[in-house]
Amino acid sequence: MAYTHKHVKVKDTGLLKSEELHNYILETSVYPREAEPLKELREATKNSPRSFMAASPIAGQMISFLLKKENAKKTIEVGVFIGYSLLLTALSIPDDGKITAIDCDREAYEIGLPSIQKAGVEDKIDFILSDGRLALDNLLLNAENEGSFDFAFVDADKPSYQNYHERLMKLIKTLWAGTVAIPESQVPDNMMKSRNALIIFNKYLADDHSIDIAQLPLGDGITFCRRLY
Ligand SMILES: C[S@@+](CC[C@H](N)C(=O)[O-])C[C@H]1O[C@@H](n2cnc3c(N)ncnc32)[C@H](O)[C@@H]1O
Repeated sequence: MAYTHKHVKVKDTGLLKSEELHNYILETSVYPREAEPLKELREATKNSPRSFMAASPIAGQMISFLLKKENAKKTIEVGVFIGYSLLLTALSIPDDGKITAIDCDREAYEIGLPSIQKAGVEDKIDFILSDGRLALDNLLLNAENEGSFDFAFVDADKPSYQNYHERLMKLIKTLWAGTVAIPESQVPDNMMKSRNALIIFNKYLADDHSIDIAQLPLGDGITFCRRLY
């Protein structure tokens, strides 16, 4: 699959050797296991001019696997868009699980909402219409929230990642994940700020010995962090 990110032509192969191999994995391992409501939401996302922003289904499958492996019950998501990663999280946590989902755009969330409702998981979601940093600060006002979340997924404005990281390190028990979505070559001016912020942020994560990290070439790239103390 190839798509255009503003002026940049991006081949969505991760670090796989070919587009054919990428498609093979999608067709063989990912789409056959993708829940019907997720397929429906992915289809609805294709109509958006910003469809390139949605999480990759291959990365989604990895996140779902980890959520189940960790028995994650209480999660945070910063950056919902139409809701691909949100719905897959809702489908991966137990019936009494809860997701605090934060985005400053409700319109996009409402495009995916019918699929979320059809899947019967709307009750697991607390959607907060807010700037990410403000919402996390509000959560931190309640001491009970500290160290209470099992998992966080950050997929929002890249220049704020360091701010999100600092706050999530207080809210999370052990693990969080964030996508890093900027290609390295041919960076146009309007993407330079995000790219530079991510370069600084990735170095910061590598230097931070209070976390384990694993950066995977899935979708646009995804970094898993495990809080050690
Ligand atoms: C890459 S998309 C999220 C994709 C989503 N995780 C998915 O699987 O489809 C980024 C989202 O971050 C949101 N966003 C950008 N800046 C934000 C901010 N400062 N606070 C909260 N949300 C923000 C945008 O509105 C957008 O919906």
